Amino acid sequence: MTTKKCHSTPKKFVKNFLDQKMQKYFFGSCARNLKRDFFAPKRWLRDFSMAPTETLVNRNHFLQGMNVLEAIGNTPLVTVTIGGQTLWTKLEFLNPSGSIKDRMAAFMIEDAEKRGLLNTGGTIIENSSGNTGAALAMIAAVRGYKCIITMPDKMSDEKQNLMKGYGARVIVTPTDVPPDSPESYYSVAKRLVKETQNSFYPDQYNNPKNSEAHYCSTGPEIWYQTNGTIDVLVAGIGTGGTISGTGKYLKERNPKVKVIGVDPEGSVFYDYFRYGKLITPHVYKIEGIGQDHLVNALDFNILDDIIQITDKEAFLTGRQLAQQGIFAGGSSGAVVSAALKVSKHHKGKKIIVILPDSGNRYLSKMYNDEWMKKNRFL
Ligand SMILES: Cc1ncc(COP(=O)(O)O)c(C=O)c1O
Repeated sequence: MTTKKCHSTPKKFVKNFLDQKMQKYFFGSCARNLKRDFFAPKRWLRDFSMAPTETLVNRNHFLQGMNVLEAIGNTPLVTVTIGGQTLWTKLEFLNPSGSIKDRMAAFMIEDAEKRGLLNTGGTIIENSSGNTGAALAMIAAVRGYKCIITMPDKMSDEKQNLMKGYGARVIVTPTDVPPDSPESYYSVAKRLVKETQNSFYPDQYNNPKNSEAHYCSTGPEIWYQTNGTIDVLVAGIGTGGTISGTGKYLKERNPKVKVIGVDPEGSVFYDYFRYGKLITPHVYKIEGIGQDHLVNALDFNILDDIIQITDKEAFLTGRQLAQQGIFAGGSSGAVVSAALKVSKHHKGKKIIVILPDSGNRYLSKMYNDEWMKKNRFL
């Protein structure tokens, strides 16, 4: 494995490589969000000095002695070739709790602490398809809070057990009910917040810190890891935080960057974006992306297009990705599948794909032949 290491100090790196806007970003409002125990800015910058050719070996070297929450972000960007098409994949499953959600969970909790919304002995309560729940449960374990997560019953057992492993209480609710039903995972979380003293509801679907986390970290990382040569960003839409924040940052740096969202068949985003029509949603198997209603964290103005992907396309492409050594989840299969379609119209362009979580979370589902056959995906 070849590694190229930049030996310049963080200060020199900033002086040499970051333009004025980026310096403003690092030392301005975003830097204020990255201080204290969550992300130590100096260490973060030191890691950045390795971009764009950093390796896991180098990362681990620099992470020695750090709080686990400081290991959030700065994930590798690696190439993979599928069907003759090369894509640049951002390995978000290498975040400490195993998904991209660590970034926004850390931002939301730090903000709540600063604003006095979350206090010692407090309880974090959130509705989650699993990954945000795991990220919040990890942060709660480190910071000494209690954590309750409500989760729809279609989500994998692996995710449920992961949250329990971090010490969270998990409440499983029916998937196939409307969002305003008292049984939905949103309503149950909101009710528990009302009933629990000293509790905090991060509200990932409406909290501006969700997309800000990506504006402040995922976007800049991709920009510097590609030396500003990114042409197209392809990412799934769950809450919309990833694509809105990352896309906003990249478009500010270069308005020509195309931002393409990925939505599962059955979710409402695709038809709303393309035809202004709010469809009646139906249940689909891909976890983490798509919604049965519109959400505030998604900024449609950032999107150039949305591609719709079926469960089968997502899972089969995810399995193909594993054959190339990248063991990712179903939403990653969906974005890669979409990126391959996009590449036909963007020949020779550098396409960056965000892979939110690991295949380890779906061993009993998309990586289980019996489950795949039972659901007619094989
Ligand atoms: C597996 C997976 N992929 C993609 C996403 C989408 O990210 P975002 O909520 O930022 O749109 C999520 C969100 O929960 C997820 O869990």
